[in-house]
Amino acid sequence: MEKCMNAKLVTLAVNGRTHHIAVKPHVTLLRALRNLGHTDVKNGCEKGDCGACAVLLDNKAVNSCLVLAWQADGAEIITNAGLGTLDHPHPLQEAFADHGAIQCGYCTSGMIISAQALLNRNPDPAEDDIREALSGNLCRCTGYGQIFEAVRMAAERMSDLADFRVVAQ
Ligand code: FES
Ligand code: FES
Repeated sequence: MEKCMNAKLVTLAVNGRTHHIAVKPHVTLLRALRNLGHTDVKNGCEKGDCGACAVLLDNKAVNSCLVLAWQADGAEIITNAGLGTLDHPHPLQEAFADHGAIQCGYCTSGMIISAQALLNRNPDPAEDDIREALSGNLCRCTGYGQIFEAVRMAAERMSDLADFRVVAQ
């Protein structure tokens, strides 16, 4: 990472695409991602309380409002839009739609990212595992039951896809 006047030059690999950006040291990863057009990363509380801004950073879920952009220099970042598209949805995205786990949708990106991080480390989670993994993601609409069911359903569907592998698209 080089310094450029007051800004730092940072390389962010987002959903398989590399961006070279100059950011001031206080700029969060959330702000950088949204400025790059990744508005599927939602801005909720900006203080780590809601989970709406979660992304996968080197395969671990983080609240991007709590990470400075320069701290992600060189890391691989995956957002909800990088997991699947409308034409080729990820099993989690499909299951959320199938189970009515989306109402306003503001929490959904972060929920799916936290769920994917869980499934990366535990492909067959029990309900308690799912509850714990999503405990940092707040939803004001659904009551959570459909969300937990959707994650369970996605885990079952993914176990049927022996060669399924998450990649940025
Ligand atoms: S916006 Fe980052 S946790 Fe709420
Ligand atoms: S669906 Fe509205 S906040 Fe979760």
